[in-house]
Amino acid sequence: MVDTTSTPILLRAARGETVDRPPVWMMRQAGRYMKAYRDLRDRYPSFRDRSEIPEVAVEVSLQPWRAFRPDGVILFSDIVTPMPGMGIEMDIAEGKGPIIHDPIRTQAQIDALHPLEPEASLPFIRTILETLRQEVGNESTVLGFVGAPWTLAAYAVEGKGSKDYSIIKGMAFSDPSLLHQLLSQFAEAIATYVRYQIDCGAQVVQMFDSWAGQLSPQDYHMFALPYQQQVFNAVRQTHPDTPLILLVTGSAGLLKQMASSGADLISVDWTVDMADARAVLGPNIGVQGNMDPGVLFGSQDFIRDRIHDTIRKAGTHQHIMNLGHGILPNTPEENAAFFFKTVQDYRY
Ligand code: CP3
Repeated sequence: MVDTTSTPILLRAARGETVDRPPVWMMRQAGRYMKAYRDLRDRYPSFRDRSEIPEVAVEVSLQPWRAFRPDGVILFSDIVTPMPGMGIEMDIAEGKGPIIHDPIRTQAQIDALHPLEPEASLPFIRTILETLRQEVGNESTVLGFVGAPWTLAAYAVEGKGSKDYSIIKGMAFSDPSLLHQLLSQFAEAIATYVRYQIDCGAQVVQMFDSWAGQLSPQDYHMFALPYQQQVFNAVRQTHPDTPLILLVTGSAGLLKQMASSGADLISVDWTVDMADARAVLGPNIGVQGNMDPGVLFGSQDFIRDRIHDTIRKAGTHQHIMNLGHGILPNTPEENAAFFFKTVQDYRY
């Protein structure tokens, strides 16, 4: 018989099993708000070193684990990490985010991309995930993550983060077939990468379509949703038991479409009330979120009230407590600790 008591609570909740409280982790829980991270960043100033040298990446992932015992421990990496393996050179600049040296804007550049071979180009991911599984055992769930095709294409085409996404939108609205080719290539590579992360030990995988909320609902339907579906459907065929989470920022007007992405859980941000999100998404899909990261700058009484309010609105079925997006860099560490403890002390 399977010993379900040894399955960590986040994995059980993500599968829709009965739990006595919501599991909790925080997006960006490893990062700049932690002094331990800032100290380590001084010793390893290059983000690619921090995320691609296995011992360093493992250490960063374990910093919040040691400090707060979250129910989920996420791989320390970035959404653009697989790009060099497809032939897209990139770097991650301090305070700026990803930089693509030679932005993808022509048919010839798309033709020159190659399929991702993770064992060859991302061997460090195996070491990191295997080590994290050993380190946390059954006490926590190891999460993998990837970027979604639209968001990766946004970086590849724009060359960096953007306020208005005018270059990729220009391509979408004047030469859509070119963009569709790029999006399909990313969808294929990302499906391969998700499978690899699961094979290496990731127990739940979250896909970040961070910039898909920049699209109108009709354009999301055309350029984001089909490629999310392509990734999730491909992964489901070979790895049907791994829960998959989808995050889009600024997604309040997109929730209904997100429910048809094939994800098991939708990560909801704070622009929508959790009770309303539940009502739109329906009973067959789980939720994650959705406290405003800014609440962690409030008093602890206020933080506790907002946590309890979110949990009550999410209900007792398939809810992973989280922020609506990443924890902000200046957040007091003691308030992060209070967030985890308050959720872990809660009982339905
Ligand atoms: O959640 C975690 O603890 C895992 C770490 C993680 C990082 N990037 C590390 C990182 C995750 C999940 C990501 C995903 C990621 N990267 C996303 C999707 C998540 C989201 O926020 O919507 C996006 C859009 C990126 C691209 C990216 N990389 C951005 C926008 C930045 C931040 C720029 C800045 O400095 O504000 C990065 C760099 C980055 N990736 C940092 C971290 C901790 C900050 C730089 C640093 O600490 O050195």
